[in-house]
Amino acid sequence: MTGSPRSAKDFFAPLAVGAPAPLREIPARPSRAIHFFDPSNPKMAAKVPDMVGTVDVLLGNLEDAVKADNKEAAREGLVTIARETSFGPTQLWTRINALDSPWVLDDLTTLVPAIGDKLDVVMVPKVQGAEDIHYVDRLLAQLEAKAGLDRPILVHAILETARGVANVEEICGASPRMQGLSLGPADLAADRRMKTTRVGGGHPGYLVRRDPNPDQPDAVRPTYQQDLWHYTIARMVDACAMHGIYPYYGPFGDIADVVACEDQFRNAFLLGCVGTWSLHPKQIAIANKVFSPSVEDITHARRVVAAMGDGTGAVMLDGKMEDDASLKQCLVLVELAEQLAA
Ligand code: GLV
Ligand code: MG
Repeated sequence: MTGSPRSAKDFFAPLAVGAPAPLREIPARPSRAIHFFDPSNPKMAAKVPDMVGTVDVLLGNLEDAVKADNKEAAREGLVTIARETSFGPTQLWTRINALDSPWVLDDLTTLVPAIGDKLDVVMVPKVQGAEDIHYVDRLLAQLEAKAGLDRPILVHAILETARGVANVEEICGASPRMQGLSLGPADLAADRRMKTTRVGGGHPGYLVRRDPNPDQPDAVRPTYQQDLWHYTIARMVDACAMHGIYPYYGPFGDIADVVACEDQFRNAFLLGCVGTWSLHPKQIAIANKVFSPSVEDITHARRVVAAMGDGTGAVMLDGKMEDDASLKQCLVLVELAEQLAA
């Protein structure tokens, strides 16, 4: 997952019939918070330049939450913002409209020639299978070639349909442009006919109750709320790990509930996600905190690395057995800390 960005030309190779896909080399830039803004909203757009440097990714959203009448204004607004803003260390992403919408072709044919040199990643919603990624990959390759771009635009898919979840492995491996995947809990819940009405997060009714105590059969039994998204996040994390790309949690719609938001983000982080979406500036701080390993965890990880010497065998540290496998876990944290500090 390290290495420098390759030229767009490298990405044409796998398009040739029968050519083997090259090994993936994704630019390893941190993206703990992907902050969504609506480029058709002048008040929100005006804040973008001031957010540069405060967040890993700024994403101009063209899809859901942008009214149908504002689709063109959002597209044009994003072009203006991208041209007028110097993004420095902050990446610029966009979420295009769904591939079955009347807007997506104009999204890509407008954005790539106009601001393709500034766009790092295109987020594709409602991806159903590898064929959707192949379509976007081809179109991007053609538009990049026409625009003379020498840096490939990467692709990020949102996992938000039952079919997409069923095809998650093939989606991750569908193109060397694949940068990562996000969970889209709201659309996914609707597609699965779940009975929730929220954007991400939990539900107080999804719980387990403690078994009865035979000694106190009439005692009140505590309940524990369960994570609605555990299964999908775990599947997504495995598929991404298998293909060497990044998994992300998605939106948490209850902006006021910062405590539950932090918990949901942390569960995703602990399961292997590298970042999440931010729908409000206050969620940026939560994401940056949660998706950066804590000082205590880094300190412990470094102690294990040091204690393990050449990395073989086993040692006892603070009464716990450490071996090759715990060393590897610690290296994940140390590498992440180094990447974030770079
Ligand atoms: C995000 O797009 C979602 O549907 O949750
Ligand atoms: Mg969605």
